Amino acid sequence: MQDQTLYGAQMMQPGLTAADSEENTLRPQRLEDYIGQEKVKQNLKVYLEAARRRGEPMDHVLLYGPPGLGKTTLAGIIANEMGVQIRITSGPAIEKPGDLAALLTNLQEGDVLFIDEIHRLSRQVEEVLYPALEDYALDIIIGKGPSAQSIRINLPRFTLVGATTRAGQLTGPLRDRFGVLLKLELYSPDELARIISRSAGILDQPITPEGALELAKRSRGTPRVANRFLKRVRDFATVLGDGVIDRDVCLMALRRMDVDALGLDELDRSLLRAIIEMYGGGPVGLETLAAALGEEAVTLEDLCEPYLMQMGFLTRTPRGRCVTHLAYEHLGMRPPESDDGADSGQQTMF
Ligand code: ADE
Repeated sequence: MQDQTLYGAQMMQPGLTAADSEENTLRPQRLEDYIGQEKVKQNLKVYLEAARRRGEPMDHVLLYGPPGLGKTTLAGIIANEMGVQIRITSGPAIEKPGDLAALLTNLQEGDVLFIDEIHRLSRQVEEVLYPALEDYALDIIIGKGPSAQSIRINLPRFTLVGATTRAGQLTGPLRDRFGVLLKLELYSPDELARIISRSAGILDQPITPEGALELAKRSRGTPRVANRFLKRVRDFATVLGDGVIDRDVCLMALRRMDVDALGLDELDRSLLRAIIEMYGGGPVGLETLAAALGEEAVTLEDLCEPYLMQMGFLTRTPRGRCVTHLAYEHLGMRPPESDDGADSGQQTMF
């Protein structure tokens, strides 16, 4: 494993791209610069202050919520606010118990260890993590068979920050070892407009308030999408406009990127259309739908569904996914007369 720098901190994941490092320049470093997630921020502020006053590392933190909402950013902020280093890795990157042991024994007192996609840790690796979290210790077995011996190595005190798209995917024993559980929610258009204006300032890119709001409304509640749109619209403003991002440039650029007025992209619309055209509006099982679209079920579940449900276009029922009348309307299609399929399992939206 190779170390790379993030925030001036150590990155344990190989393959950091230019896009990653540009994303890093936009990440806020301190809690006061972090926009939105007010409840999470207020509580986190208390936990950080309490740990600082006691001179202890913060308790282990689990961040959960859809992708792109700022889980890595918050982990970096926790490290910065505590004045310690952050080590970044992910569940799939820790293949063997020895990989985790190497990470843990290289930590300094108080460091933050960030494990993204923590639900993807293997059982064997998880078993090594338990004593590390509870007692700051590693139990190592030496030898085999009847002569095998267990020895305990003490570790520096550290804070684990785990991130997952759904806390329900974690095993019970792992979830129980986090003292702080923080759920991140989709952002409002106003919050996203503030994030976009802040990012534009860092990129030295002029943007009008109307332009920022137009981008925000189409960013599906997600800062990562908002910042990506900002960079692409900046390209259109540079090449086809006068360099300023105003509402007109946003409308032109987003139309060319196939993003509609509410931020749905081609995959979102294909998902809704497939339920309507192939399954009469639903219900249809997630796996069936994924196969029909040639996508992974987790892509639909993590990337598309949170926003489609927030917009009231999609519902999850025990029998599968259904579209609502609002989805028909948004796609310019006629909803069915009877309510058997399209609205089953939920209240009508009118
Ligand atoms: N960039 C990405 N997420 C952000 C947030 N929540 N606040 C400020 N800038 C961000």
